[in-house]
Amino acid sequence: MTMTRDALLNQKGGVAKTTTTLHLGGTLAAAGRKTLLVDLDGQGNLTTALKLDRLNPKGELTLARAMLDGCDRDAARSLVRQHSENLWIIPSALDLFTLPRNLYSARSSEHRLSWVLELLEDEFDHCLVDCRPALEVDTDNALTWATDVLIPVDVDEFSIEALELLLGQVHTLTTEARIEPPRYRGLVINKIARPFSGFHQKVYDALHQLPLPVVGEIPLRTAVAEAKNKGLTIAQYEPKADVARMFRDLAVKAGYLPETPAP
Ligand SMILES: Nc1ncnc2c1ncn2[C@@H]1O[C@H](COP(=O)(O)OP(=O)(O)OP(=O)(O)O)[C@@H](O)[C@H]1O
Ligand SMILES: [Mg+2]
Repeated sequence: MTMTRDALLNQKGGVAKTTTTLHLGGTLAAAGRKTLLVDLDGQGNLTTALKLDRLNPKGELTLARAMLDGCDRDAARSLVRQHSENLWIIPSALDLFTLPRNLYSARSSEHRLSWVLELLEDEFDHCLVDCRPALEVDTDNALTWATDVLIPVDVDEFSIEALELLLGQVHTLTTEARIEPPRYRGLVINKIARPFSGFHQKVYDALHQLPLPVVGEIPLRTAVAEAKNKGLTIAQYEPKADVARMFRDLAVKAGYLPETPAP
């Protein structure tokens, strides 16, 4: 089994990185794929959306600790919690907040996430890493490990500027660290609220003009908030909802799942 390695990132806050990770992951799990989510954000929104506990830096190994000290395969496995059939997560922990500072002077500082996740390569079909809204060394770690990048955006003019900055950062990192640049699966436009104002229509159109393909369009839906309150993915909470179908369309268009023939 060769695990796909994806980072979901955008330094712009609130563009639904965590929501996309959760429901794309849930869609893949529902399709029978063994899926590992990684909560790389000290805020732990992905972990709490699944109603799981954060790891406790005082009593157990955390991802940040494993990245700082190194670990073996059994230790890497001990980070993983199962949420439901085919869906696992490496939960957040508070020490992710100090990880960038602690990594700052470490040798091979941007390779540390790879050291941990490569130990789990044989156990999952897909791994999705939910990054925090920042372009710092922890995000660099996600980029160094990932072969593919999926970029959630929202219909906001700053999304376009943020994207330029993000692409520049990826280019600088991969050139400086001499690592293979990731493939871009594309953009997921989130929190779409129609009808658009003239202004939002312009931003929406501009997002479609960018050099990256739009592989998903996800509307604002109360079912998304309700699923989170129940600790479920949309594929589990309301598989027939239009937004559940849109996450399946994303999974196909972004290349995770094969196109299913029309019935
Ligand atoms: N399709 C949607 N329908 C309804 N609410 C949504 C949808 N997508 C995201 N949200 C809500 O928008 C808020 C921001 O989403 P989310 O936390 O996923 O963004 P983020 O990019 O991960 O934020 P951060 O930058 O803080 O990590 C959350 O409260 C989430 O529940
Ligand atoms: Mg988030």
